[in-house]
Parts: sequence; C-alpha cells; structure tokens
Amino acid sequence: MTTPDLGFIHRFVPSPSGSKTTLLLLHGTGGDENDLLEIGESLLPGASLLSPRGKVLEGGMPRFFRRLAEGVFDLEDLKLRTHELAKFVVDACAHYKLDRDRVIAVGFSNGANIAASMMLLTPQTLRGGVLMRAMVPLEPPSTPDLKGRNALILSGEADPIVPRDQPEQLARMLRAGGATVDLKWQRAGHGLTQEDLRDAHGWLSQF
Ligand code: MLT
Repeated sequence: MTTPDLGFIHRFVPSPSGSKTTLLLLHGTGGDENDLLEIGESLLPGASLLSPRGKVLEGGMPRFFRRLAEGVFDLEDLKLRTHELAKFVVDACAHYKLDRDRVIAVGFSNGANIAASMMLLTPQTLRGGVLMRAMVPLEPPSTPDLKGRNALILSGEADPIVPRDQPEQLARMLRAGGATVDLKWQRAGHGLTQEDLRDAHGWLSQF
C-alpha cells in the first residue's frame, strides 16, 4: 500500500489485533518517522502506530518546530506547527479509520514538546501523552479543557537541556485543565533509559 501524504511524511502500522488505541510517535531533533516504531510496538503491543516526520529542518535535522537557540522556541512557528500536526492527526484518523478519541502521543524531547503543545492548544486531539524529557513549550492563551485526559511526564534528574522546574510547571499547567498527570524523575540525563521504557509501558497498559 502506498503511504498517502496527509501533509507529513509518515509511517503507519495498523493494529495487528484490532486494538482501538493508536500511538502517535514523535521523534526528537534529528530523528525521523522510523525512530520510535520499534519502541512504540514494545510499549503497547497491538496498538496502531502513526509516526510523522517533523517538517522543520535545523542544519538538515528534522524537528517539529523551529527554535531560536537551545531551549528558546520560535513561538509563532510552534503554534502554527502544533495546529498543522493536530490536523494531520485528524486527517490520518479519517484516512486510516482510527478512533479519534484513542490517540496517545509518545514523544521524546522535541517530540514531547510538540505533544505537550498539542495538549495545551488543541486539547481534543490527544487522549493522553507520554512526554519524555519535555519542557514547557508555551503558555496557552486560556486554560485548556483536559478533563479525562492523561499524561505521564518522564524527566531526567541530571538533564542538562531541560531546566529543573519545567516538568513540574508543565504538570501544573496540564492539571489546571483537569488532566491526570503523573510526573516521574528518572536517574538519567536527556537520553532515554530502560526505566523510561518500563514506566511508559506500565502507564500505557491502562489504555
Ligand atoms: C531538543 O534538542 O530537541 C530540545 O531539547 C527540545 C526542543 O528543542 O524542543
């Protein structure tokens, strides 16, 4: 089957078991649509996998939105890209006949940041998200309605990229909208560890 464009280069792996849950896999800077497929399959076996490639290039490295410097985001671009990605999710759900209420993001670093941005700006897009090494992407213009939505934030105690107070602040912002948020600190830096995958697997088993 040829992959339709839907606005993003992407990979789609249908559920082998008829599961109604879809994992939206969002790679980090310099990654692509292939990066998280194996991890996604191991995190929630049976789920459909939808994995887009970020459209912004930084020195040839794909990202989901522009940044001006490390940790300094181009907020106009971030907003535009967030809505663009949310539209992709809606279009992909229609095209692949997926349940729109059962899409859960699994994002790492830049991918976690755009997932958090979607939860804050387009709260109806995601049922939840595993946000690995996420920062506060932006301040939403109003409190999003996140009742019934869930997030797991996995942060590194020794992460040199994510300021220490940001995961707590992101958790507060999501909770303010009514989301159920688990925040876990790993003995880790910015890179993922086996503990991240174990915790993400455990958390995702509720879906
Ligand atoms: C990254 O390297 O991707 C940053 O840590 C996060 C971001 O820029 O969104």
